[in-house]
Amino acid sequence: MTEKISEERFKQVIDKVSDVLGADDSGHGIDHVMRVHDMSVRFASTVPEDVDDDVVRLAALLHDVDDYKLVGKKQSGLQNNAVEIMSSVGIDSKMQITVKNIIANMGYSKSLRGVRPAIVEGKIVSDADMCDAIGASGVIRALTYAMSDKGSGVIFNRQQWPAINITAEQYNVTGNTHDTDNFINHFFEKLLKLKGMMMTQPGRKEASVRDQQMIDFLRSYFRGGSDRVD
Ligand code: ADP
Ligand code: NI
Repeated sequence: MTEKISEERFKQVIDKVSDVLGADDSGHGIDHVMRVHDMSVRFASTVPEDVDDDVVRLAALLHDVDDYKLVGKKQSGLQNNAVEIMSSVGIDSKMQITVKNIIANMGYSKSLRGVRPAIVEGKIVSDADMCDAIGASGVIRALTYAMSDKGSGVIFNRQQWPAINITAEQYNVTGNTHDTDNFINHFFEKLLKLKGMMMTQPGRKEASVRDQQMIDFLRSYFRGGSDRVD
């Protein structure tokens, strides 16, 4: 049995993640990471399997430090930031490999290619990450993203129907936006699909509540006639 990671070391990890994510405006800020961390810990306490909490917490904290939106596609695969942070707080190489594996196998565009985390710790963090993209926090993040430099800058265009069967290739061809990209279409192109992609029981439960919140939001939006542009 390896020694548990102390709260002091977790605090150091959080500080370093915070530094790396810095002034991110693509929805990967430290606030998102901390919500994913807290939700992962909660999910970990209710799944039937034995779970290594330290692996869950590290993977949750480090899951976005090498995201392609932050460091570019080439750098992303190398996981330099995750390795550097783990090494600096003395995480042993066995645990580093486990955590890196989880992070390398999670994320929406990878899941469109059939890549999913294999171990329960990874399933938990993936579910929590996807849960934070839906419900009330999802609405806020999608709007923030759409209005950021990286987003479309468009709320909705009734002439542009969502591409609901969008493929991994079309979804993010150049790292920028695609033809039908806008805030409201993002719900139909991605967010309403996430509930069906949960891999754990607590994830399914949480996602189902959050999915309903988005449906209520979209119904009110269209009922209010907010989509009128004429
Ligand atoms: P995650 O970190 O959850 O894997 P992404 O990297 O795909 O998510 O995106 C970060 C956040 O920005 C998510 O909440 C996502 O829904 C939102 N987002 C991504 N692309 C768009 C888009 N084209 N329009 C609006 N919101 C987006
Ligand atoms: Ni994330």
